[in-house]
Amino acid sequence: MNQTVASILKQRDFNRETLVRLLEADVEETRLIFSEAASIKHQKVGNRVYLRGLIELSNICAKDCLYCGIRKSNENCQRYVVSDAEIEKAIQYAVDSRMGSLVIQSGELQTENFIERVNDILIRAREIGKGELGVTLSCGEQSRETYEKWRELGASRYLLRIESSNQELYYKIHPQDKTHNFQTRLNALDLLKSCGYQVGTGVMIGLPFQAMDDLASDLLFMRDLDIDMCGMGPYIEHRDTPLYQYKNQLLSVSERIQLSLKMIALLRILMQDINIASTTALQALDKQGRMDALKVGANVMMPNITPGLYRNNYALYLNKPGMDEEAEDSLRNLENQVTEAGCVVGYGVKGDSVHFSARKL
Ligand code: 5AD
Repeated sequence: MNQTVASILKQRDFNRETLVRLLEADVEETRLIFSEAASIKHQKVGNRVYLRGLIELSNICAKDCLYCGIRKSNENCQRYVVSDAEIEKAIQYAVDSRMGSLVIQSGELQTENFIERVNDILIRAREIGKGELGVTLSCGEQSRETYEKWRELGASRYLLRIESSNQELYYKIHPQDKTHNFQTRLNALDLLKSCGYQVGTGVMIGLPFQAMDDLASDLLFMRDLDIDMCGMGPYIEHRDTPLYQYKNQLLSVSERIQLSLKMIALLRILMQDINIASTTALQALDKQGRMDALKVGANVMMPNITPGLYRNNYALYLNKPGMDEEAEDSLRNLENQVTEAGCVVGYGVKGDSVHFSARKL
């Protein structure tokens, strides 16, 4: 194919083939992609970076995803549940530091106990935040009733990554059983939309067996699903997982970072007014990673406010950053990164997805 990157961008001619061409762009061409994404970001969502204080509620998980450090079968993972008192402290901290929003993330459980625990946290978040705190949930696949209940109790956004939109690849990175069904995950995304959530999804970038074609399809998948938010980042191998055996077949760390930045930039070009997170996994591979993501299209950051005691145990992948930091340190670091990227922190605002408001009209 001989179409140039410049002409694809100019004609806005995006399909699987042209997106692969863009993902394979060389250094010089990539600059064009990044600068186009930066300019779209500036026009459509501005330079404010919204914060979501991230609470990792529990690493107990019913799933056994082949890439994830907190998978059910990992016996080296010390399991925890954050106590009510600590949750309240963390919520209060998010309010005091004017973060505007919270994300409650957890290993995936569908037990009654777990569902009720999340109910209670939502109620407390509404009280402590006086209704002013945006709440995002990232608690996996649940029934319609559960999604509806959580929506009623004040959660307005939900993150559920598709991980890979290619069903074949999905089954290479998950066990092939009822608990890890691709169609169920797709249905869950539809359910979330129909319950009125701002819906976020995302994928891992640089997975073993993943081709450029898969990533191009991931971008089109997100566009076609008309998502409101995205969190995606590089795949990082974890020693205690089955996929670790393929570590020698992976792209180099710098290639994975570059590819992740390209994915973010291209998604910003495709979906101009959505919220895109600059993810922790990027920072795990490169200290500059999260900052670079802000420069090429991301506009959301999720400082970890999980109480220090538990943080080291929510290790989805190796070298997760901020594991030894207390919340305050990590917030200060983050503010420096935001400023260095030429952005400003959007303190005290929820920072809803512009796309969602437009989609609701
Ligand atoms: N590398 C990168 N991301 C990972 N996640 C889980 N394990 C890994 C890993 N090894 C991501 C998944 C999940 C999110 C919470 O963390 O995409 O949805």
